[in-house]
Amino acid sequence: MATKKTKTSTRWSGRFNEPVSERVKRYTASVTFDQRLAHVDIMASLAHARMLQAQKVISRQDLRDIERGMNQIQADIEAGRFDWSIDREDVHFNIERRLTELVGEAGKRLHTGRSRNDQVATDIRLYLRGAIDELLVLLGDLRRALVDLAQKHAATVMPGFTHLQVAQPVTFGHHLLAYFEMFTRDADRLSDCRSRVNRLPLGAAALAGTSFPIDRARVARELGFEGLCENSLDAVSDRDFAIEFSACAALIMMHMSRLSEELVLWMSPRFGFIDLPDRFCTGSSIMPQKKNPDVPELARGKTGRIYGHLMALLTLMKGQPLAYNKDNQEDKEPLFDTVDTLRETLTIFAEMVTGIQVNADAMQQAAFQGYATATDLADYLVRKGLAFRDAHEAVGQAVRYAVDKGCDLSALDLAELRQFSTLIGADVAKVLTLAGSLAARDHAGGTAPRQVRGAVARARRRLAGSGERTRSAARPRRA
Ligand code: ARG
Repeated sequence: MATKKTKTSTRWSGRFNEPVSERVKRYTASVTFDQRLAHVDIMASLAHARMLQAQKVISRQDLRDIERGMNQIQADIEAGRFDWSIDREDVHFNIERRLTELVGEAGKRLHTGRSRNDQVATDIRLYLRGAIDELLVLLGDLRRALVDLAQKHAATVMPGFTHLQVAQPVTFGHHLLAYFEMFTRDADRLSDCRSRVNRLPLGAAALAGTSFPIDRARVARELGFEGLCENSLDAVSDRDFAIEFSACAALIMMHMSRLSEELVLWMSPRFGFIDLPDRFCTGSSIMPQKKNPDVPELARGKTGRIYGHLMALLTLMKGQPLAYNKDNQEDKEPLFDTVDTLRETLTIFAEMVTGIQVNADAMQQAAFQGYATATDLADYLVRKGLAFRDAHEAVGQAVRYAVDKGCDLSALDLAELRQFSTLIGADVAKVLTLAGSLAARDHAGGTAPRQVRGAVARARRRLAGSGERTRSAARPRRA
């Protein structure tokens, strides 16, 4: 077997007098984590080999041997039969050496005109492109779940908050659609980032290009890249595309963390606005009554981890001279963990949002208790001719009076209200209702149920548009 044979030789043979020490081998190897690139590594190697053959750098027989060997390797990896070895450092060496064992000479010709430097850069870009496509689908699922729930609750009143104090009535649907907007911008950002990820580094070789007559455009076409990395030094060395992706990921997690915070608050008995299905919660080992919103809490916590990965990648890159440096091997674990965490969190959130059970009475009660219609009363006075600042002052006194009395503004009778302004008439009653307050905010972007229904319809059209884009993109295979 391969692993046994390599024990005696170094990875680079000729140049070295002694093998790498076991400790250094473990320290420098990346195969334990970069083997997930195997599928894209093989894809890129095959495209490279086909190009080499088309350019007459290798023979038809070489290409056939390489294709046969790679098919075997792919099958062995998928079946869990592939013998990964840290003696062969990384995913690239593991596959190449195995190829040579399987097909001989042709395997040794595969690396003509390329380097692991452009190879790994290509692999990461292919991997990340696939991950982005998958994440866009998952983001779409979460956005759809938000819109579905928003539609059901287009007229469900809840208190809107500023400073976490009751501010004005809003509908729960309107509140949910705020998150739809955030996640839609996140999806746009990811799509935009994808176009910078989707450039071909292969052909840059180690750093300066190669003396063989390569055809980079052909390789780019076969691999579905939308362009070439234009400068060989840049192609092998920068990881800004991974950093940009991590920044997109950090923003998505930031939005999920805000939603999480609200879910946790709303599920607290102090609010009691919602309940989450039991399957998303856990109990306490000591307090039998507890049902804890662990999923949103964990998502809030994992957000810190994703910010950390972004910081790790930025710091990894900042001091590196051109071109490739081994530092870059450290790009993978943060990137992979970012993708995995995002995938899991988005998947679980789409399910959880669908399962949210709404306690509309509790929401309405909370809106009643917070003098949420005070602004409506002030606006009413303005319509009767009072300047807004004077209206603000008059209503402030009315609220003070109601607080002392322990009731809502709508519970004050006309005579009581007129103490604060004689402009108040019998028509004030409908202004002070929650439904009246909601219906009054009837403009684009407002919380009136009519507007929320319109926003839901527009959101569905946007989802249908982006759905086509993301669904047509190839779903990545997880290696
Ligand atoms: N495992 C390496 C990485 O992840 C591959 C490139 C190695 N290149 C080199 N010159 N040592 O970056």
